[in-house]
Amino acid sequence: MSETTAAQPAVPNPAVQPAARGRAYDSAFLRACRHEPVPHTPVWFMRQAGRSLPEYLKVREGIPMLESCMRPELVKEITLQPVRRHKVDAAIFFSDIVVPLKAVGIDVDIKPGVGPVIADPIRTKADLQRLRPLEPDDVPYITEAVGLLVDELGQTPLIGFAGAPYTLASYLVEGGPSKNHERTKAMMYGEPELWAELVDRLAQITSAFLKVQIAAGVSAVQLFDSWVGSLAPDDYRRSVMPASTKVFDSVADLGVPRIHFGVGTGELLGLMGQAGADVVGVDWRVPLGEAARRVGLGKALQGNLDPAVLFAPTHVVETKAREVLHAASALGGTGHIFNLGHGVLPSMDPDALSRLVAFVHEASAR
Ligand code: CP3
Repeated sequence: MSETTAAQPAVPNPAVQPAARGRAYDSAFLRACRHEPVPHTPVWFMRQAGRSLPEYLKVREGIPMLESCMRPELVKEITLQPVRRHKVDAAIFFSDIVVPLKAVGIDVDIKPGVGPVIADPIRTKADLQRLRPLEPDDVPYITEAVGLLVDELGQTPLIGFAGAPYTLASYLVEGGPSKNHERTKAMMYGEPELWAELVDRLAQITSAFLKVQIAAGVSAVQLFDSWVGSLAPDDYRRSVMPASTKVFDSVADLGVPRIHFGVGTGELLGLMGQAGADVVGVDWRVPLGEAARRVGLGKALQGNLDPAVLFAPTHVVETKAREVLHAASALGGTGHIFNLGHGVLPSMDPDALSRLVAFVHEASAR
């Protein structure tokens, strides 16, 4: 199914204003987001900071995940680790999608090997009162950590991020990670007014969290809608897209590219393109050429090597990476950011990731 059938020319996106975004403005990553020519294809990895790195495990020893997100010096160190080691083209801010929920008073913890767990799930109208708006003063440690990082990173862009309303709602309603999202969908289908208010409150929290990061100096923002691929297009359009669009609209005039990512979103790519981002993340299930047709004109694409390929021998990784680069260059040679189709896995060999970065730079050098 494709929403748009036109091929994708290299159209500069007018939504991305050439505002003075600091020293990273001319980086390959930001140029690619704006569909401008690049010296090489920029590459970064979702979840590049984290458990695949021994230096991460060392500095995190004895510090709970969410507490580590509130210590600016530690956030700075962890964010910089993959930049130093892999020579990626962008840093992603070390935090988590549930940090803003904790900041407005939700009792949430991240259990190792499990994920976010919510002590009292949000299931009724009365529960919604606990989801108050986020104010910048709720997250002073975010402002401080972004400031430290921007100073240190110089010309390397820093990507800020937040969880999208659907993915956050799924944790809040289920009370933790879920395979089938049954309680979430029961509310979405059965209590549409309650659902609409829930995702609307989450859109406010997410917008405010992104604005704090942008005000502090991040060069781009990514909205993670990791679990939205569990929805059919009509349900996405009706019940989720308005809240995600609200988030993108709220940061449209702030001069930073907006990236939209989800997993298993092949049938949603057209709608995700319409939701408002400048760059759409693609997982490995849809080839980039087809993704471009579905996403539509004027959007850059990010992706889309299968993360599991990293467990194969180096020559296989390089063959598969070259296929991704070829698919992107067939679209006109601009507007591509190389990434994995989903995050780095904790068991990945960090050296394989470093080799992949060097390979992408070399194979795509113009
Ligand atoms: O390197 C980066 O990408 C930046 C940091 C980052 C983290 N979480 C750190 C983290 C980012 C961008 C996220 C986003 C996030 N968090 C998402 C969307 C991305 C995706 O993968 O789809 C989601 C769904 C979450 C929720 C969450 N937080 C999960 C599922 C987990 C893993 C739980 C586990 O132990 O398996 C977390 C914890 C988490 N967030 C870790 C890290 C480095 C691991 C914590 C640890 O070291 O124990």
